Amino acid sequence: MGLLLPCILLLSVSTFTAGLDSQQGFKPFGQSLFLRQSNIEEKAANIVKRSLPAWLAASPNHKIKRRSAEQGDSCKAIQRYDTKLADNTHSYTFNDLSGSVSLAWVGDGTGVILALTTFQVPFFMIRLGQSKLYRSENYGKSFEDVTGLINNTFIRSEFGIAIGSNGRVILTGEVSGGLGSRIFVSEDFGKSFTPRDLPFIPLMQITYNPENSNALLVLSNSNELWLSDDFGSNWKKIHDMVCLVKWGRKNTMFFTSSHNGSCIDRGMLNLRRSTDYGKTIKTVARKIYSFGLGGRFLFASVMTGKGTLRMIHVSVDQGETWNMAQLPPVGHEQFYSILSANDEMVFMHVDEPGDTGFGTIYVSDDRGTVYSKSLERHLYTTTGGDTDFTNVTSLRGVFVTSVLAEDNSVQSVVSFDQGGEWVPLRKPANSKCDATAKDPDKCSLHIHAAYSTAMKLNIPMLPLTEPNAVGLILAHGSVGDAISVMKPDVYVSDDGGYTWIKALDGPHYYAILDSGGLLVAVEHSPTQPINKIKFSTDEGQCWGVYTFDEKPIYFTGLASEPGARSMNVSIWGYRDAILSQYWVSITIDFRELLTRDCGDNDYVQWLAHSDDISDPKDGCMLGYKEKFLRLRKDSVCWNGRDYEVNTQPTPCLCTLDDFLCDFGYYRQENSSECVEQPDLKGKVLEFCLHGKEEQLQTSGYRKIPGDKCEGGKMPERKEIDLSKRCVSDLVGPEFLVDSRSSKSVTIVVTVIIIMLLSIAAGVVFVKKYVCGGRFLVHRYSVLQQHVEDNAVDGMDDPLETNHTQNGKIEFHDDSDEDLLE
Ligand SMILES: *[C@@H]1O[C@H](CO)[C@@H](O)[C@H](O)[C@H]1NC(C)=O
Ligand SMILES: *[C@@H]1O[C@H](CO)[C@@H](O)[C@H](O)[C@H]1NC(C)=O
Ligand SMILES: *[C@@H]1O[C@H](CO)[C@@H](O)[C@H](O)[C@H]1NC(C)=O
Ligand SMILES: *[C@@H]1O[C@H](CO)[C@@H](O)[C@H](O)[C@H]1NC(C)=O
Ligand SMILES: *[C@@H]1O[C@H](CO)[C@@H](O)[C@H](O)[C@H]1NC(C)=O
Repeated sequence: MGLLLPCILLLSVSTFTAGLDSQQGFKPFGQSLFLRQSNIEEKAANIVKRSLPAWLAASPNHKIKRRSAEQGDSCKAIQRYDTKLADNTHSYTFNDLSGSVSLAWVGDGTGVILALTTFQVPFFMIRLGQSKLYRSENYGKSFEDVTGLINNTFIRSEFGIAIGSNGRVILTGEVSGGLGSRIFVSEDFGKSFTPRDLPFIPLMQITYNPENSNALLVLSNSNELWLSDDFGSNWKKIHDMVCLVKWGRKNTMFFTSSHNGSCIDRGMLNLRRSTDYGKTIKTVARKIYSFGLGGRFLFASVMTGKGTLRMIHVSVDQGETWNMAQLPPVGHEQFYSILSANDEMVFMHVDEPGDTGFGTIYVSDDRGTVYSKSLERHLYTTTGGDTDFTNVTSLRGVFVTSVLAEDNSVQSVVSFDQGGEWVPLRKPANSKCDATAKDPDKCSLHIHAAYSTAMKLNIPMLPLTEPNAVGLILAHGSVGDAISVMKPDVYVSDDGGYTWIKALDGPHYYAILDSGGLLVAVEHSPTQPINKIKFSTDEGQCWGVYTFDEKPIYFTGLASEPGARSMNVSIWGYRDAILSQYWVSITIDFRELLTRDCGDNDYVQWLAHSDDISDPKDGCMLGYKEKFLRLRKDSVCWNGRDYEVNTQPTPCLCTLDDFLCDFGYYRQENSSECVEQPDLKGKVLEFCLHGKEEQLQTSGYRKIPGDKCEGGKMPERKEIDLSKRCVSDLVGPEFLVDSRSSKSVTIVVTVIIIMLLSIAAGVVFVKKYVCGGRFLVHRYSVLQQHVEDNAVDGMDDPLETNHTQNGKIEFHDDSDEDLLE
């Protein structure tokens, strides 16, 4: 039985802090129905064109300049670093040859890391496994084997570790064969663990209430909803036949349940809510297909009663009242997805009918009900559920994604104004167009993101941005007319995506340290062992190379504390012994390299979104401009853990382009004015706002969500009453449950930072003599794992397929990134 030998070596390095599982990613059921939707879509949205700076839309002769090194040659700035770094390099060898390692940071700035190694083999119907737990208190410089704390229990690697606030940790064990299972809980940053027996087998990771981490929710493998309000000591069953559960705000939980016993019966589910941990439960919507949360919005897709069509309904009061979203309905084989949302607005993807692999992005108004078409042919595969949509968190208003061009090539586009307009990315100054370009001088940069990783291209990491590293973007890409499958290189932008340079040749793992003051990268070469790490103190222009060990390791991933404030980075990998492999982690503390703390002279002013300083509107984006103090490129100093982004926002004068057209109005081509749509009645798509009469008063204009312009040109028009034009028969009365308690819910913006998952270096190492013939196949472990999970669970719910994507460190605030089918 040679197969019991370690055939597979996976490393998934996962990063967690305050944890809440934000869920994403379930796919439509079946791919059979093709619906032609006549003219519904065309009528669905007022097409709003918000203007971009002309230079961007049109000419390549822009004025924008790179934020180059102000003076001096920063490539010479760092010298004799080898000894400084050698004194601060710590290697730790794990006496362990497990298949995968998950890393979890416990707390912020505590230096506590839990490393869980799991080795599992599928053996007939059961999985045999073994786990070991290690703990570090010094940012990974050394570890202690604390497997005894969990009594050698096998911890499931796919949802084994859940980190809550205040040092809370839950490890979910797997008990084969029984009716229950066991978890281990800690409230002291993993120093000690207490076992707790569960009267059920969990189907998903246990989720913490973001507002009270003593309250836990989980679904069992028989779809029962279980809750504990004392951090796992006692569990009570809240409900049967629950298909999907999520924590909302203010201790609220939402879940969908099925009456007659099957979650496959989509479109017949009830959406239920409890605000008192399950003591009372209220049905807030019926005939639900699915639901999602994003920012302050609760979305539900509701069957229309017309065939298999369903439509999005939106609530901003926790499901008390609902409005129909002005989005096209979708059929069975299509899906909706919340790409990104905050308290002000949402980006919604609506899948195209047919298995096209693309759809349309709509952006909402501040109520979540009126939508503008933002981007057509937006790539979003229906089968694998992959989209390249990325919120560039290092600069307000910037988003990057991919479109599927008419010729089926994948091309990247960027929006600098929150989806108002999308343009190709500019060609990096120091790059040549590749073979995909028709004109060797005219082409653009294309970014590899989730789609490329899903296609198993050699892209070890997704684009990386951090809110505290202003303007900085690191990403793999290629330069041409479309994305190329040839060897990708690493590109860096220091101004939020306006300009780019090629920073590194070939694929790399990378990390942002010290709020952008230091970048590190390790070349990705699955077959060649490595012993070098590259680092840059000038946002990727010059790179130093440090040999961290004479003996190279098979590299699997880079790990640093989430939040990009650390100076410690760990290189994870393994070494080969005669018959086995063992894990190694090498942690480098870069603190000594940056010999001094940064002072006032190390920072310069930088105006975001700026192209022409003589223009008074220069830098205005969504109604205001922001000046940042940014580290000079040639300054070699330490921002420090307490570094705060320093910004001075100033409002801009309003123009008509700061407004959207409200429902019933549209913009004619080349005009900023919103004109009344002649006739709204008799259209397939009706739009109605329930309960809130005042919302039917409109002047035709609404401020773009998040726009803070003041004065200037305000649209002048008296309010008209839309309710007379409003006809709706889609929302039956049974849908609107009694809303006697119309007490408005104050929306609290909770600033829970959920950082979870995952630098996942997927290496599947297949020993030739063990598995016959194949060796050194590499693939992406986490994706793979999730595919398998789904297959095992046989469920089409977003419970398991969360966004564990390779090389992606995700920072979630409380606004879930959600797929809402
Ligand atoms: C550890 O596990 C063994 C065997 O399953 C059991 O007998 C023992 O009581 C456990 N110890 C603790 C501390 O849970
Ligand atoms: C579930 O109930 C609905 C009506 O309540 C019925 O139409 C449907 O066929 C039932 N499904 C199953 C699987 O029993
Ligand atoms: C994009 O990310 C920024 C920074 O994290 C956040 O403030 C903003 O709300 C996000 N935007 C959307 C639409 O999710
Ligand atoms: C790096 O690790 C050391 C402990 O080994 C810690 O004292 C230091 O604060 C860490 N540096 C940063 C910036 O996190
Ligand atoms: C709008 O402007 C574009 C470019 O300036 C022009 O080609 C087009 O004809 C204009 N359309 C209308 C309806 O005026």
